[in-house]
Amino acid sequence: MKNKFVIIGAGSTHTPGILAVLAQRAEELKLGELCLHDIDEGRVYHMGEFNRIYMEEHCPQIKTSWTTNLREALEGANYVFVQIRPGRNEQRSLDEHTCYKHGLIGQETCGLGGFSFALRTIPAILDIVKTALEVCPDAWILNYSNPEAMVSEAVYRTYPEAKMLCICDMPISQEETIAEYLKIPHNELTFKYFGLNHFGWYTNIYNKEGKDLLPEIRKDVLEGKLTEFCESGDGGKTDDYWTKTFNNVIKGFRAYPDYLPLCYLQYYYFHDEMLEQFDHNFTRADYVLSTREITVYDECKRVIEAGSAKDSYLVSGVHGNYIVDIASSIINDKRERYIINVMNNGAIGNFNHDAVVEVPCYVGAHGIEPVSVGYIPQFHKSLMEAQKGYEKLAVEACLEGSKEKAMQAILLNKTVPSYRVGKALFDDLLEINKPYWNKKFYE
Ligand code: G6P
Ligand code: MN
Repeated sequence: MKNKFVIIGAGSTHTPGILAVLAQRAEELKLGELCLHDIDEGRVYHMGEFNRIYMEEHCPQIKTSWTTNLREALEGANYVFVQIRPGRNEQRSLDEHTCYKHGLIGQETCGLGGFSFALRTIPAILDIVKTALEVCPDAWILNYSNPEAMVSEAVYRTYPEAKMLCICDMPISQEETIAEYLKIPHNELTFKYFGLNHFGWYTNIYNKEGKDLLPEIRKDVLEGKLTEFCESGDGGKTDDYWTKTFNNVIKGFRAYPDYLPLCYLQYYYFHDEMLEQFDHNFTRADYVLSTREITVYDECKRVIEAGSAKDSYLVSGVHGNYIVDIASSIINDKRERYIINVMNNGAIGNFNHDAVVEVPCYVGAHGIEPVSVGYIPQFHKSLMEAQKGYEKLAVEACLEGSKEKAMQAILLNKTVPSYRVGKALFDDLLEINKPYWNKKFYE
């Protein structure tokens, strides 16, 4: 039997990278049909036509289609990739500028940029999952949509029956950077890790002989031998922002040399320095809008006009590989190990069992089996508890349209110094999110 894959939010500029991997690995995925869905007709037309031309030339046995109709897309689906961004990068930019106006970082997943984005994304994702449960209840749903920490908390609690995995390419991108530094192939290393999405730590990095290499990396960092990662392991993460962000892993490890932090902890360990480091007038979203958002669509249009994608620059970076690797591990029952967001259920012994955490899991046809991480130290546990409190209250604020819970969530976020700052920013976020947030906020 052949599989039908669907990409929801196919208007994303990350889609071509996923298409390239799907084409390369069609046989292994038993891929028979691929449907692209987006609510934006112009974007799904361009990406859909690009896909049709690309697949005709690279993998003609795949039946392709595109649509703005969700039910039609999900009909007969076996694997659904979700990567939506309500309000697109334009709204992401607005979040960042609004947070900067109040002197805070407004990154799309960390700080109150993430809060703003979560309250837009969660209702849309819940609607997609609800529809999928009606139309294709046996399909596996792999979600990339951000902010993954809060999206996963909302989905797993609302639809525990959904076969859904909430994933992120960040841990693996960082692992590949570390593997490159160690000059050891990534697949020969075993990474032990725990945390929340965009908020975690590596505790051990074992080589094939079972030797933990983390102490060596720590030594190199503390002795000043490792001050910069030479090159990012992910071909797609080569700009200045990612170079600085990955290098902040070293800075974070030097500051707290017990476990090696995930790069996005930079926003919490070094919030004030991050504010100094980034240009407040030209944010990350502004950069994405003026680069990838233009070049990817220009390329789609060029291919459509030429009627051929043979010389297209499509690349398959970590982002595309990772989601396809997980799908393949399910399809072929490979039981490979990936870092995934799951209900804790005891994986971290001394952390709320009824909370989503990010831990290594074995992935096979039957689903996932989280690795038991054991007990975690006080420092990480306390940071995670405050962050988890923020995430849970943000989800409740979103679902209930509750300003009280929103303000509680906001005070728990480590980037927010006080009620006064948090309230002023929240009032502005309410304004800019009127078309997206729960209507109850505005009654
Ligand atoms: C990493 C994160 C993703 C996020 C992306 C943003 O890959 O894991 O969750 O979407 O960064 O990248 P961008 O280039 O849009 O800033
Ligand atoms: Mn991520």
